Amino acid sequence: MNQLEKLKKLKKEKNAIILAHYYQNADVQDVADYVGDSYYLSEVGRDSDADIIVYCGVKFMAESAKILSPEKKVLFPAHGDATCCMEHQATPGLVLEMKKNHPNAKVVTYINSSSEVKAVSDACCTSSSAVKIVENIDADEIIFVPDQNLASYVAEQTDKKIIPFDGQCNVHHKVTLENIKKLIEEHGEVEILAHPECQKEIRDISTYVGSTAGILNYAKTSPNKEFIVVTERGIQHQLKKDSPEKSFYFPYMICSPMKRVFIETIIDALENEKCEIVMDEELIKKAKVSLLNMHKYAG
Ligand code: 13P
Ligand code: SF4
Repeated sequence: MNQLEKLKKLKKEKNAIILAHYYQNADVQDVADYVGDSYYLSEVGRDSDADIIVYCGVKFMAESAKILSPEKKVLFPAHGDATCCMEHQATPGLVLEMKKNHPNAKVVTYINSSSEVKAVSDACCTSSSAVKIVENIDADEIIFVPDQNLASYVAEQTDKKIIPFDGQCNVHHKVTLENIKKLIEEHGEVEILAHPECQKEIRDISTYVGSTAGILNYAKTSPNKEFIVVTERGIQHQLKKDSPEKSFYFPYMICSPMKRVFIETIIDALENEKCEIVMDEELIKKAKVSLLNMHKYAG
């Protein structure tokens, strides 16, 4: 039996599904039952009637799936430390301090954060849902944690007062205007599609700014044939699947924590039911409120 047959058999025997983010290794995306952005995957995990979710992404994503469905077994088959850099930036203490300084504000926390930070937040958001959640939450002042770039993007789209934390994604934040100008020199004035985790100077020269799913949708439906894409390179796999005839040019953007899941680690985790996400019940209960509010305010 080859690896793919083995995986299929294991999934059926154990009533398991595999979720993968668009930044995962291409062969992992290809064996997943659902591939998507972090908002879509949070809904799929929540609504699935599978007994086991195998989450191929970074740790906060797998923990969010567990928080939303504590009755399910969530396996996270990553080799080594597969945490998003932003999971280590904000802390509950720092968030509580900001709350103390802004007593009328509500805390909207980017899902790319630790479960402990989610537990002291009013609502979570993803890049695709951030503006809607800020608009719909019942406060005029918003403490936005931890990504300063997503915070500034949201501030441009709302009249509410955004009080940003000073975190950032070290993959998106480090891309400079110079990097993009170099790509324009090589490939001409093609459309630029950027993730809102990019700095303002990049967003300002982009024709489209949005989540991974938003970028994919834009590229697929655009009549243009060439694009500069300013997000993690793993997305190229789906871009090319959707539009093999189009060309996509990237600055150097690799998120190494996203590349720690392999077919072998998925099979091993499922076969032996290991790499399980185990969380404190009290933490699940507290963090769940902000994740449920994310779905409520985005809906
Ligand atoms: P999306 O929600 O757009 O998939 O983003 C997740 C992420 O980690 C971007 O760096
Ligand atoms: Fe986190 Fe950045 Fe990687 Fe996304 S690309 S998972 S924000 S480190």
